Amino acid sequence: MADEMRLRPAVQQDLDQVVFVESQATPSLRYLARVFDLFLNDQEGEFSVAEMNGQLVACGKFTVQADGSAWLEALRVLPDYQGLGVGKRFYQRFFEAAASKKITTMRMYTNISNATSKGLAERFGFQRVATYRGASLDLQGQPSVSDPIGFEMVRSPQRAKDLLMPHHQQWTGFVVMNRTFYSLTPDLCVTWAAEGKVYEDQIDGSVIALGARFMPEQALHIAFAHGDMEHWLTFALQRAMELGVRRIQCMYPPSHEDMETFLLGKGFRLDDYDCIVMEAVDC
Ligand SMILES: CC(C)(COP(=O)(O)OP(=O)(O)OC[C@H]1O[C@@H](n2cnc3c(N)ncnc32)[C@H](O)[C@@H]1OP(=O)(O)O)[C@@H](O)C(=O)NCCC(=O)NCCS
Repeated sequence: MADEMRLRPAVQQDLDQVVFVESQATPSLRYLARVFDLFLNDQEGEFSVAEMNGQLVACGKFTVQADGSAWLEALRVLPDYQGLGVGKRFYQRFFEAAASKKITTMRMYTNISNATSKGLAERFGFQRVATYRGASLDLQGQPSVSDPIGFEMVRSPQRAKDLLMPHHQQWTGFVVMNRTFYSLTPDLCVTWAAEGKVYEDQIDGSVIALGARFMPEQALHIAFAHGDMEHWLTFALQRAMELGVRRIQCMYPPSHEDMETFLLGKGFRLDDYDCIVMEAVDC
């Protein structure tokens, strides 16, 4: 390639150009303006940008998750600069970051139809490990919900593990908020209990994990639910209304057919595409 490419950490002054790159690369998926500061201030994982001949043409984020794995996200290349090796340079940087932090597992997700993104990940040894489907409910115009009795926040880390871990297989290993796929591990249960994301009704045995990784004002994410579906959804609706959010989002494995039937029956609309989780181990 004749043009010189340079990767560097993002800085505050990159905001406008990063938002522009996103608007061109993923016009229907735009959130970087809202998480820019969060990404920039992450001391553990770099938010990187690529320049070619001095112009910012791409960005990508390396995020360390609670289980010690890395989550590769927000990889965006300006359309005119796609296919020139920019994405590959980001992956090299991700692998360098993983090596320096002794991280041995990395993951990313992509639209099931995104052959380039999937192929790029495969080129670096990633393999598809799971598939998820998203559904969301627009809360505007929804009637308010009467008090659902019984749900309490689970504060005990052990209790959170006991409630969530038995469902690892049914949820095919991951639970999702803001399209961030968290490996369902005992450590995650501990983290989410500490963050107040796990609730149970001890009378009927219903459990729900909900919240947001970021942009809590945009949507409430149901990452996991089990038990009486009417009951946990009523609780989620009430939480959403308390928080003043306009949307409830849920991602679940398509194999969890009961979940899909229930959500669609309640007016949830399916996302336009399924998402796949790609994973590289022994990095
Ligand atoms: C996906 C994206 C990040 C890739 O970046 P890029 O700079 O275009 O990719 P590169 O030129 O570095 O690498 C291309 C590699 O992808 C793979 N690839 C490209 N097209 C492919 C296809 N149709 N099928 C399979 N693999 C493909 C190949 O491995 C190729 O490398 P190779 O030709 O040396 O084998 C970029 O195209 C982009 O921003 N797309 C829009 C946003 C997006 O989809 N982001 C990612 C997930 S949300």
